[in-house]
Amino acid sequence: MIEIKNVSKSYVKGKKTLDNLNLEIKNGEIFGFLGPNGAGKTTTIKIITGILDADEGDVLIDGKSITDSPLEAKKNFGFVPDNPDMFLKLKGIEYLNFMADVYEISTEKRKEKIEELTKKFEIYKDLNNQIQSYSHGMRQKIVICGALLSEPKNWILDEPMTGLDPKSSYDLKEMMREHAKSGKTVFFSTHILEVAEKLCDRVGIINKGKLVFVGTLEEMKEKFKENGSLEELFLEITEE
Ligand SMILES: Nc1ncnc2c1ncn2[C@@H]1O[C@H](COP(=O)(O)OP(=O)(O)OP(=O)(O)O)[C@@H](O)[C@H]1O
Ligand SMILES: [Mg+2]
Repeated sequence: MIEIKNVSKSYVKGKKTLDNLNLEIKNGEIFGFLGPNGAGKTTTIKIITGILDADEGDVLIDGKSITDSPLEAKKNFGFVPDNPDMFLKLKGIEYLNFMADVYEISTEKRKEKIEELTKKFEIYKDLNNQIQSYSHGMRQKIVICGALLSEPKNWILDEPMTGLDPKSSYDLKEMMREHAKSGKTVFFSTHILEVAEKLCDRVGIINKGKLVFVGTLEEMKEKFKENGSLEELFLEITEE
């Protein structure tokens, strides 16, 4: 469970990038975070994960404050950032072992998880190559594998489908479904409205740092009294 409480953030004085955000993502839920470019999705995710400090407010991950108990809070989630270009000098296997070390995963368990995840995403054979030799999609896959190694209860994913081929994208969506079905939490941002429509229990729409809608798609259609597609609704909700 992820609770965002009264979070505000300015990068530049006097201009609020996030303006008093309140949001609760429940156990057993897939929550899609939508909004135009520059709306504040990645900034929100960076604050949830403790990469950035909020100016005001706090975030609780399974009840642990990212401000007061950052280490405890961080043990409760796996995170996939929007840009997978990191640790490029490491071999895939070195990166995954590094992640397993950070999360103190036993030798036996990590072997099993690394094999399971990298075979699923079809990068098992590439693990002995440096990440800088990987394609964009392969980098995305190794970061996803690293984030899921520790079997975190909360998944926090910033545009996770970007660059994935259709099969991997399908597999990831199935994994998200299974994860939520087992009572755990998935929070992800996306621009793919079709994915949001098919996958999410609820969505949140952020525009210029403010949440302009939170609820199910049915509620969105009801609220805006539109029979249009999600795309038309999205454009209406976020227009000037
Ligand atoms: N490090 C930074 N310094 C100054 N401004 C920033 C910084 N990072 C982001 N911003 C600004 O904050 C706003 C929100 O950016 P953010 O990256 O959160 O948007 P986003 O919703 O993730 O967009 P996208 O859909 O393009 O990924 C934008 O106006 C952006 O220019
Ligand atoms: Mg972003």
